[in-house]
Amino acid sequence: MCGIIAYIGDEDAAPILLEGLRRLEYRGYDSAGIITIDNAGEFELKKDVGRVQDIHNELNLLDLEGHIGIAHTRWATHGGVTQANAHPHVSNNSKIAVIHNGIVENYKDLKSLLVSKGFHFDSQTDTEVIPNLIEYWMDSKGLSFIDSTIKTLQSLEGNFAVVIIDRDSRTIVGAKNGSPLVLGVGDRKKNEFFLASDIPAFLDRTKDVVYLYDGDMVILQSESSSPRATMKGSYKILDFRARTKKPIIRPIQSVSWSLAHAAKGEFDHFMLKEIAEQVETIQKAAAQDRELVQSVTESIRNAKGVFLVASGSSYHACLSASYLFAKLASFHINTVIASEFSQYESFLKPETLVIAVSQSGETIDVLDAVKTAKEKGCHIVSIVNVMGSSLTQISHKTLLLNSGPEISVLSTKTYTAQLALLSLLAYSLAGRYEEGLSKLKFLWNIVYNLTAATTRTKIKELSTTLANHEHIFVLGRGSLYATALEAALKIKEVSYIHAEAFAGGELKHGPIAMIKKGTPIVIFVSKDTEKTILSNAMEVKSRGGYIIGIGPEPIESFDFFIKVPESNSLNPICQIIPIQILAYQLAVILGHDPDKPRNLAKSVTVR
Ligand code: G6P
Repeated sequence: MCGIIAYIGDEDAAPILLEGLRRLEYRGYDSAGIITIDNAGEFELKKDVGRVQDIHNELNLLDLEGHIGIAHTRWATHGGVTQANAHPHVSNNSKIAVIHNGIVENYKDLKSLLVSKGFHFDSQTDTEVIPNLIEYWMDSKGLSFIDSTIKTLQSLEGNFAVVIIDRDSRTIVGAKNGSPLVLGVGDRKKNEFFLASDIPAFLDRTKDVVYLYDGDMVILQSESSSPRATMKGSYKILDFRARTKKPIIRPIQSVSWSLAHAAKGEFDHFMLKEIAEQVETIQKAAAQDRELVQSVTESIRNAKGVFLVASGSSYHACLSASYLFAKLASFHINTVIASEFSQYESFLKPETLVIAVSQSGETIDVLDAVKTAKEKGCHIVSIVNVMGSSLTQISHKTLLLNSGPEISVLSTKTYTAQLALLSLLAYSLAGRYEEGLSKLKFLWNIVYNLTAATTRTKIKELSTTLANHEHIFVLGRGSLYATALEAALKIKEVSYIHAEAFAGGELKHGPIAMIKKGTPIVIFVSKDTEKTILSNAMEVKSRGGYIIGIGPEPIESFDFFIKVPESNSLNPICQIIPIQILAYQLAVILGHDPDKPRNLAKSVTVR
């Protein structure tokens, strides 16, 4: 949901910013722009609607001069997809420019104030109030750029990450409040620093990062016009909410992610690469620190009431796991969609445990739910892929998925990693940790075969058959009902074919009315649900439906069969994989970009 990248150092900024934009494009892709300060001390700005590469082809972003600049890729919230609404936004006096992720909730009030002071606005965005407020405080009250920025940040309501660049002092300020922003510490000989929404944006330049916390404001300066103020080659962090400007010390940490993780390699798309990576990522998710898993297990056991809270695919992983907790450990867990969590507020007590599951650790609905729970004194455990993300900062304990960066908007490898880790927790709660671990290890071979080229070719045949259909239905029972929900989500997100999931038993309560000759239905089969789900298959078959069976054995009523060996409690991890591949193939056949589906964003930082 909008990507931010900033550079300051001795090298040309434009190539670094352009590469950063390419790496961040998965966060938003309706428009993009770069602004630099050139060697004459002037702003050079280029921005437009469209994909980064198309904008570059049109405008040549590389000829922007200078060693300091900021860049943005947008996912529209306030204001349509237009050139004027693309970031960066520049103040009326052309001295301050801003890129922004999030929403300024009180922008109408701030805008009215500025209009009354004679400011004009060129866009419909909320962002444009920020550079103009800074200009206003500098000009009307004679405040410095830093003091005006602090005053402005204090007046903003809502979640945001902003990066601001001041032309005259050649200073970049980054600030975070509820939206992601991380500082990259580059080659010290080149005095270089980066600010970005996500680490892959600068991973080719440095692995040394400083995770920023809400309230943090980082100041980066190239040679200042005032020699006294020069802090070239260093950075300063302040709390913009505090009364004093006392520096905050945050550790520099080295990330384990490699550049290869953030590159497509031999694959045409990140989605396919990430599907194939599941051979390793499921294993990595299961390779947890045993003591940490034990301590989370104890927290679950001792809690009075446990909630699993998440959004999107992460919610489906939670729902799936709740069946496993019940089955293996006879333990009831409430599974709640994060945006609905506030409805359960009255059940939250200090003894309640909330387990928040999120790939990004930045989904605003999840953060809101956790903040609500924390206010009630609940204990918070998070399961997250992105180290240092906002969710990890507000949790008491965090288990990391260790999947490496997931670039495709659709969640694939992190979904199965979540399932693997949650399954391990369920086994641990049942007192069968070792058994769970060895069962997860055993999946390696199954996942390898499911992601191999032969399986992909077979599924390609199926996608050709399905590509022209308007509706696809998906059925499952038990934990495979959650798999059905995730399968339908995967298909619709990327192929734009209407896909809908039902618990097998619900078929006769309505959905069966939709079945006619040739209607495709995906049916997930497992040993424990076989009898009932197959009778659902017969109900569909006798009405002319086209049945795609996924499970251990082919059945006569199946028109198409994809074999997934039985792995009992761990079936949901393996059975989703053919559908991830199907969704991918459908997107390719239908001419859609599987990595950047229309209207979607990888992490949703607005409500
Ligand atoms: C967005 C993404 C989904 C993801 C959901 C939750 O909607 O497009 O793929 O499942 O957010 O994201 P999280 O990072 O919290 O797991």
